[in-house]
Amino acid sequence: MSAAVGEGHPTRSFLACWPGQVISKRLAQCARQMRDQVGGRVTRRENLHVTLAFLGGLTAAQLTAVAACCPPPPRRFTLDLDRTGYWKKRGIVWIGAKSPDPDFKDFVEDLRHRLRRLGCRIESRPFVPHITILRQARRRPRFKLDSQTWIIDEYTLVASELASEGARYSVSKRWSTNGDVK
Ligand code: 2AM
Repeated sequence: MSAAVGEGHPTRSFLACWPGQVISKRLAQCARQMRDQVGGRVTRRENLHVTLAFLGGLTAAQLTAVAACCPPPPRRFTLDLDRTGYWKKRGIVWIGAKSPDPDFKDFVEDLRHRLRRLGCRIESRPFVPHITILRQARRRPRFKLDSQTWIIDEYTLVASELASEGARYSVSKRWSTNGDVK
């Protein structure tokens, strides 16, 4: 779904889940400890999230279409944050799950399928739930992670703006398990 000419300035957008204060505080601590070991740039605590689908630049009309095609999550999902990953190419250090809830993965793959049918260009790689906590790290950190359980009961549509201090995110819509759409 590329932005059509004359439909206004496209908004860089994505769908994401946000951990609560307790988990994000702990992850931000881990990120700082890892940075001291392997360098790089930590993700600010308020920016920690799992991206479900990256949508790219969308016009207002496209955002309305995306919002209309997204279903609320059918139930809560459990994500045990018990694994540190490292993607060498961009020095990404992330936290994820050794065994992600298969229903969560299925839900996100279905969401991505709906968005593709709408014309969105969604990456074809399988969904690996992860929270990026450090970028441009020199190497994989050695770190003993204390497992934390995240109960996911909502996801959001987010606009991203690049600011001097890094990305600035704003939530424009929210879907939760109780069927709420805000
Ligand atoms: P990441 O956590 O793996 O870095 C907002 O920019 C989010 O969308 C980021 O969390 C990032 O995921 C993801 N993202 C950014 N650019 C992307 C791209 N070109 N393709 C896929 N995902 C992207």
